[in-house]
Amino acid sequence: MADKPKFLRVFEGEVFDAPPVWFMRQAGRYLPEYRELRAKAGSFLDLCYDPDLASEVTLQPIRRFDLDAAILFADILLIPDALGQKLTFVTGEGPQLAPLVSANDIERYRACDVREHLAPVFETVAKTRAALSADKALIGFAGAPWTVATYMLAGGPVKDPAALRLRFYEDRKFIEDLIDVLTEKTIDYLNAQIEAGADAVQLFDTWASGLPWPVLDAVSVRPLDKISRAIKKAHPETPVIFFPKGVGEKAGEYALLQGCDGLGIDYAMDPSWARANLGGRVVVQGGLDPLLTVSGGDDMERAAQTYLKLFHDVPYIFNLGHGFTPQTPPENVARLVEIVRGGE
Ligand code: CP3
Repeated sequence: MADKPKFLRVFEGEVFDAPPVWFMRQAGRYLPEYRELRAKAGSFLDLCYDPDLASEVTLQPIRRFDLDAAILFADILLIPDALGQKLTFVTGEGPQLAPLVSANDIERYRACDVREHLAPVFETVAKTRAALSADKALIGFAGAPWTVATYMLAGGPVKDPAALRLRFYEDRKFIEDLIDVLTEKTIDYLNAQIEAGADAVQLFDTWASGLPWPVLDAVSVRPLDKISRAIKKAHPETPVIFFPKGVGEKAGEYALLQGCDGLGIDYAMDPSWARANLGGRVVVQGGLDPLLTVSGGDDMERAAQTYLKLFHDVPYIFNLGHGFTPQTPPENVARLVEIVRGGE
């Protein structure tokens, strides 16, 4: 099948001179066309819940850069929103969530049907898949339970990671119950995205860094194991990618999981270590420091070549080691794509 997306062919073991390329946060504020549409939509959440606009935003970076994969435009915090923990995005301050207080909240979450509240997201997936050409993949996503839980527990971005770790030791059952509910809801949510047309799914564990092994195992590795197994059971052909940010050599533990097809590496991970220990075992994705796309030039090019050379003989997907920041000039992104595709 000549039309099968390159992005999906790497999961069948194919190696390309020019690997498939997409970027975390490829749709967003660094693009003038996004800023324009975002201003029209009103709030960020209105945009996420409007299938026509969200689908348009998903397609914007594909039109501009001809990338190999689109990623659904949504947010990892739509799950708490669907569970009834009211979410708002305050400009300049990021997300804010109503506080989660007691075990009663968790029991209430258990009874929620996320498929109902998140129906517009599945419509966005279907619309986007219908609009994409056959050689492009559509990636669905969710936050990993731990990362979503950190926002739910802190009422926004975590300011005091030590307090959260202490909470885990002092109130372990509460945290584990929360992780467990999020695990179940995330399985439901991702399966519904796949049923609506997503070709692969990615789980973002942005706040997995800095946890001692037994805690990381309990809140991140085991929940991702459970989610990926459940997805593979329902959809054996759909690749599952994990992005456990800042876990260093513990990335090897994720690569061993039966349901892990691909592993995103962050910008702090030594790419030689990743090549030796992950390459060929799972599809490795990403690595480039997104700030190099702000500065651009020779430094960006040299760094991109490092990843391209190191991973030239194993299935690899070119990407960043975290998302674009709003400062990235789109011209640098166009240049980066040219470098990946082998243009001088
Ligand atoms: O292009 C894409 O990557 C798809 C859409 C996407 C968004 N957020 C859109 C977004 C994806 C995959 C995410 C994931 C996400 N959201 C993560 C995990 C990955 C990561 O970046 O670490 C996290 C932790 C969130 C939570 C979140 N959403 C925060 C902390 C913020 C505010 C900080 C910021 O960058 O403004 C958001 C808002 C958000 N999500 C924006 C976008 C485009 C900016 C909102 C705006 O337009 O005002």
